[in-house]
Amino acid sequence: MTQPPSTRTARFPDGAFAYRDGRLFVEGVDLTAIAAAVGTPAYVYSTAQLAANWRAYADAFAGDGVEICFALKANSNLAVIRTLARLGAGADIVSIGEMERAMAAGIPAARTIFSGVGKGRDEMAAALSAGIHQINVESLPELELLSEVAVGMGLTAPVAIRVNPDVDAETHGKIATGRKEDKFGIDWGHARAAFARAKALPGLDPVGVAVHIGSQLLKTAPFERAYAKLAELVVQLREDGIDIRRIDVGGGLGVPYRPGDGLPDHAEYAAVVRRTLGHLGARITLEPGRSLVASAGLLLSRVNFVKDGLHRRFLILDAAMNDLIRPSLYDAWHTILPVKDPGGAEPVPMDVVGPVCESGDTFAKERLLPPMAAGDLVAFMTAGAYGAVMAGTYNSRPLAPEVLASGDRWSLVRRRWGVAEQMALESLPDWMQAG
Ligand code: LLP
Repeated sequence: MTQPPSTRTARFPDGAFAYRDGRLFVEGVDLTAIAAAVGTPAYVYSTAQLAANWRAYADAFAGDGVEICFALKANSNLAVIRTLARLGAGADIVSIGEMERAMAAGIPAARTIFSGVGKGRDEMAAALSAGIHQINVESLPELELLSEVAVGMGLTAPVAIRVNPDVDAETHGKIATGRKEDKFGIDWGHARAAFARAKALPGLDPVGVAVHIGSQLLKTAPFERAYAKLAELVVQLREDGIDIRRIDVGGGLGVPYRPGDGLPDHAEYAAVVRRTLGHLGARITLEPGRSLVASAGLLLSRVNFVKDGLHRRFLILDAAMNDLIRPSLYDAWHTILPVKDPGGAEPVPMDVVGPVCESGDTFAKERLLPPMAAGDLVAFMTAGAYGAVMAGTYNSRPLAPEVLASGDRWSLVRRRWGVAEQMALESLPDWMQAG
């Protein structure tokens, strides 16, 4: 059933987040209570929203036999991975650290794809000895090294070659990956020769092709262009005698970050995949990250000060760029909601900033927000993807804790990593210790 256009754009709060009794809740849990218990800043995730995001893919691709491998880079908290694993997710990893997390959360290596442009020899060996499902190779030197490692271990590596289709994903420059000038994948013009090499080298089984053209794609047209090119390549490769059994279509859909943004259309995306690749009879793998977790998480923060300058009002928070770097790095928009229901309060423009000593530590400029006072809580919405995983400890700030809610329950799923524990990793050289 087609929904009327008015309901097909994003609203905030939505999904598992809503105002109740004048305050913002995650599922049945009062965010104000979470903030009081664990402090701020803190990431908070919703189990129900993770499940809904998973179902959107599972329903759209039902019956197609696709493999959905969660891209752990978007959120690698063990409880989040385990939630998706229980729903049926495999894993897409880019380091052995992520493989260890996937396995600890219940996703075996046999359901894991190892992506990434610069794998180390040790990482290849660890993946092979764990029985990795597939290694996506991005260059000829990587192919040679993998062959050497596999032969040395007496194993055969299941390999997909990631090709660069030279398609503009029409997204932010720092997260577009499929243009010929990007560092990713093997150039389109070298693809057939690379497969021939993979077939000739010992210890490799070239099982498939992979593409990933970028992240936060809001239109399906770039996917369609890339997959149509890929389909032609698969036909050519099969003519060349390469038995392509698997096609890895890369990351998933973009998500709405602003009120009024269009909602991703999973059914349309599934139709694109079917239309372009369905006839090839290969096993299709998706590697969504953002669209599974972004809308399931928020970053809770408290207002430290409201500073009225001559030209601006600044909302100075206790969260900073080290906690959520996307606005500084990509000029990304995160919708900011007051945790106290603003009712009909008239919004005023303010610059929302953190305490880090850089002008870049700015979350939003001239954002229209209801009047707020020190001590009030705010929530950065759609922060479940590329939020906590990209956080750091710049300015000797603690690493924010993470909380998972489910119905009326919530649990601390990563505690705050404070400066005392950070300093415990450091030591003074022996020549400084005497006296
Ligand atoms: N597969 C590969 C090979 C990837 O490189 C990526 C993301 C994904 C899958 C998952 O893509 P997704 O479904 O999340 O779009 N830190 C940036 C995003 C970087 C994405 C990198 N690769 C951000 O905060 O927007």
